[in-house]
Amino acid sequence: MNFHLRIWKQEDRKAAGRFEEIEARDIPEDASFLEMLDIVNSRLIEQQKEPVAFESDCREGICGTCSMVINGTPQGPGRGAACQVYMRSFQEGETITVEPFRATSFPIIKDLVTNRKAYDRIIQAGGFITEHTGGAPDASTTLISKWDADHAMDAAACIGCGACAAACPNSSAMLFVGAKVTHLAALPQGQPERRERALKMVRAMDAEGFGNCSNYYACEAVCPANISASVIATLNREYVRAELSEAVQS
Ligand code: SF4
Ligand code: FES
Repeated sequence: MNFHLRIWKQEDRKAAGRFEEIEARDIPEDASFLEMLDIVNSRLIEQQKEPVAFESDCREGICGTCSMVINGTPQGPGRGAACQVYMRSFQEGETITVEPFRATSFPIIKDLVTNRKAYDRIIQAGGFITEHTGGAPDASTTLISKWDADHAMDAAACIGCGACAAACPNSSAMLFVGAKVTHLAALPQGQPERRERALKMVRAMDAEGFGNCSNYYACEAVCPANISASVIATLNREYVRAELSEAVQS
């Protein structure tokens, strides 16, 4: 298959970016989007031209590293990560526009690569539990209902890719933070730090410059982990309860 690529090129955060036109010829229809970029880059290198910078790790849709915007949609067509997009989903001869995530809190490092450490810092603020070290306790010593286990696992599917903030007109990270807070609030292990976690993660999210949710649901539409926007309602409830509790105690 043959494609006409319009790819964003930008030397670094401060440099002016531009679209570059690149032909992608004789691409196998079973190639993934990243394999297509690998082929294009090999040819650019053979021609002693600068390859396109992009990130990847697992290439299995589970690490959230390959984030990019394909034809205006964070993570591209379908409901997986960008590495799960296959060239057969495009038309022969199609012009494909490829850009980095656009969010002030995800500054561009180079071309399609953005710095998404803001999400790591939000996790560091409170997205964890405290547990004793030593041997793993018998699973039957902590009873968890099927509903709670399923609810927690659904939220735990978030791969931290950042597509939610990139899709949101307000660059809101509330789907991501909501997923993490919902996951841990649903489990007994998450109870000791439950209130502190909601406060610290929401405050870290605000400090990183992410906006508020305005119910566009763009985040839910692009999320490769199918995280439901209902986690944002859970996050709001957790945060309000934690703030009230903090006010009563002070
Ligand atoms: S909520 Fe979805 S879109 Fe947002 S970081 Fe997690 S997996 Fe990515
Ligand atoms: S490279 Fe890991 S999700 Fe795409």
